Amino acid sequence: MRVVIIGGTGHIGSYLTVRLYEAGYTVLCVCRGERKPYRDHPAWSHIQYVHLDRTAEEGAGNFGERICELNADAVIDLTCYTPNSASQLVQSLDGGVCHLLHCGTVWVHGHSVEVPTTEDALRQPFGDYGIRKQAIEHYLLNEAHTRLPVTVLHPGHLVGPGWYPINPQGNFNPDVFEVLAAGRELTLPNLGMETVHHVHADDVAQAFVCALTHRDAAVGQAFHVVSPRALTLRGYAEQIAAWLGQPARLAFLPFDEWKTAVNERDARVTLDHIAHSPNCSIEKARRLLGYSPRYTSLEAIQEAVAFLRKQSRQQP
Ligand SMILES: NC(=O)c1ccc[n+]([C@@H]2O[C@H](COP(=O)([O-])OP(=O)(O)OC[C@H]3O[C@@H](n4cnc5c(N)ncnc54)[C@H](OP(=O)(O)O)[C@@H]3O)[C@@H](O)[C@H]2O)c1
Repeated sequence: MRVVIIGGTGHIGSYLTVRLYEAGYTVLCVCRGERKPYRDHPAWSHIQYVHLDRTAEEGAGNFGERICELNADAVIDLTCYTPNSASQLVQSLDGGVCHLLHCGTVWVHGHSVEVPTTEDALRQPFGDYGIRKQAIEHYLLNEAHTRLPVTVLHPGHLVGPGWYPINPQGNFNPDVFEVLAAGRELTLPNLGMETVHHVHADDVAQAFVCALTHRDAAVGQAFHVVSPRALTLRGYAEQIAAWLGQPARLAFLPFDEWKTAVNERDARVTLDHIAHSPNCSIEKARRLLGYSPRYTSLEAIQEAVAFLRKQSRQQP
């Protein structure tokens, strides 16, 4: 079976491309060729690269056609961020592939009501990214599905060796892990009871392969792809401190006070994460796709942090 993966060398693609190859698929990886995958693997020498700039091709109205020409049985779209991108691809693929798999985000939910959030929860997205991803999901599952079989997978915060995960303050500042490692005081916004929901990139890759292999159950459906359980910021900080051999010395401030002590970007990213506070159920993916994440949130985070701390110690 021929599978095209659009964006196959990024966080998810670094695992998914390899998994697809190992599962026996013929894999065509569409990217610009500007970056290396996050992991070395012998599989990369067997992947067929198709170098395309999606933005430029879409601007010229050609992207969908270029993908269609690859004669794939299935297309996995990891880099679709606007409804226009989705509709260009769908119109070109119309009837030409057996399965289109789109990568969404748990941000489509916006504020949670009942947690863990299930896929059938009312969508109340906020913020440009979540609103656009929800519009894409709506288009794919409510309009495009009459033209071709579609599945939407919604990952949480991606984690893997090679990049810093969302930290216990809800932003990407790597110093937070060093503060915990040194046993220094870490101040968390509010009471530290807001949540983050990580997932190892390899577990997202697993879910895409499960969706391909359980096609009949997957078509027309959306699935959360996260770790088994979300973390509170406070619990996250305590567990990481313990893992680093330190007591957690935590302080708490209301967000508006807390933000004055961090830079503007960290404050903005934290607000985005605590406002969303995702906590999603994976029961649907477990039941219909056989999704079985290998990593808890903490296991995935520990692997990523250990990798990056080791790398920074080795740097001259
Ligand atoms: N990051 C998260 O925590 C998170 C959470 C939930 C959902 N998601 C979703 O996950 C999906 C994939 O994210 P990711 O983090 O794996 O992606 P990523 O690491 O940003 O990787 C992007 C991939 O697309 C390629 N690419 C980028 N610009 C391109 C262009 N103009 N034309 C062709 N190829 C291009 C890149 O290779 P080149 O640069 O070589 O072209 C790379 O292979 C997205 O749909 C995102 O919404 C992400």
